[in-house]
Amino acid sequence: MDPRDNPYAPGAGSPPPELAGRDEIIERAAVALDRIRAKRASRSLILYGLRGVGKTVLLNKISLDAEARGFAIVPIEAPEERSLPSLLAPALRAALIRLNRGEALRTAASKAFRSLGSFVNSLKVKYNDIELSTEFGTEKGIADSGDLELDLSDLLSEIGHAGAERGTAVVLAIDELQYVAKEQLAALISALHRVSQHQLPITMVAAGLPQLVGQTGKAKSYAERLFEFTPIDRLDDQAARDALCKPAEREGVKFTEGAIEEILLQTKGYPYFLQEWGKHSWKIAKRSPINQTDAQTATAQALAELDASFFRVRFDRLTPAEKRYLRAMAELGPGPHRSGDIADELGKRVTAIAPVRNSLITKGMIYSRSHGDTAFTVPLFDGFMRRVMPEGFP
Ligand SMILES: Nc1ncnc2c1ncn2[C@@H]1O[C@H](COP(=O)(O)OP(=O)(O)OP(=O)(O)O)[C@@H](O)[C@H]1O
Ligand SMILES: [Mg+2]
Repeated sequence: MDPRDNPYAPGAGSPPPELAGRDEIIERAAVALDRIRAKRASRSLILYGLRGVGKTVLLNKISLDAEARGFAIVPIEAPEERSLPSLLAPALRAALIRLNRGEALRTAASKAFRSLGSFVNSLKVKYNDIELSTEFGTEKGIADSGDLELDLSDLLSEIGHAGAERGTAVVLAIDELQYVAKEQLAALISALHRVSQHQLPITMVAAGLPQLVGQTGKAKSYAERLFEFTPIDRLDDQAARDALCKPAEREGVKFTEGAIEEILLQTKGYPYFLQEWGKHSWKIAKRSPINQTDAQTATAQALAELDASFFRVRFDRLTPAEKRYLRAMAELGPGPHRSGDIADELGKRVTAIAPVRNSLITKGMIYSRSHGDTAFTVPLFDGFMRRVMPEGFP
């Protein structure tokens, strides 16, 4: 069918044509943010889940909705290997500027700008990737100790006051939070704890891989009470059908029941894969309805394309030992698996393969749900590992 009308949007953070199955979470986030703006108790939200389940689009949707309701959003994406202060400083500066909409600075806002200056000055030696001019001066005694935990608490408090002065709340919207280094994550949690104790209108909505739950708990033991951990999972049957069928229906195109079943079976309801299968089915079908044979051809094409890109780029970042580890996991199925079983599969001792397991966790390829078990962070990766290393793990 006409590629110009193909409605599907596979890609990292690409807004889907139909954001299916997430209404309840969106509503819950809106309530939490409105409560914080009204200075009522509410917890910061952490959305966690596997690769491609739709965390980023959900975070963006929550942010955009909040922005439309007058919140000041501070969008941040944490890449690997960047310090949190270097990401926060420019993002907070931009948010302060937006908060003041070009008007003359009020008291709390000017103090917040100067606190940001202190923050940058006191930390730029330790975190030398901070790049921000401090043209707005500094504030003596605030955010200038050189200790990230103290200074970030000061800074977020002052920004909270600046938000309150404008009758709104400030929302740190942080994606890929699992990449923030442990002591910096601890500082962030502690700062959020302090602002919530003082009922300042500043909070965080964050997204990341499942290991984030354990990471925050290890960084600060009270994290579980400070945050509301919200699992983002694959879509249930009805939501997956909506994600697949509604965009096509708007273009006057239907799927047969056989096509839908094939696509739900293959994608297991994972949002990113639904977009890929939708895209390929559309491309293959000659006319509506898209039938089961079209969907089966789409499976072959989608898998070939994923193997060459989505899965492949992750595979190419692995060392030979890491590849063997993942291949052994794949032999056992989708998982999660016990570390002992993986070690047995490899014919090694658990302690001998622990370093490889740790480096795979750091790379975000696997995570541990509970002590001693291991699962893939990328859905359907087990099938890919078996296809790409058909001979096993010599
Ligand atoms: N609720 C949904 N309904 C339909 N499609 C969705 C939904 N959520 C996300 N998608 C689609 O899934 C794909 C992945 O979304 P997104 O990038 O937000 O995932 P993610 O969880 O952030 O992945 P990663 O961990 O790799 O960053 C996108 O193509 C998006 O359009
Ligand atoms: Mg994402």
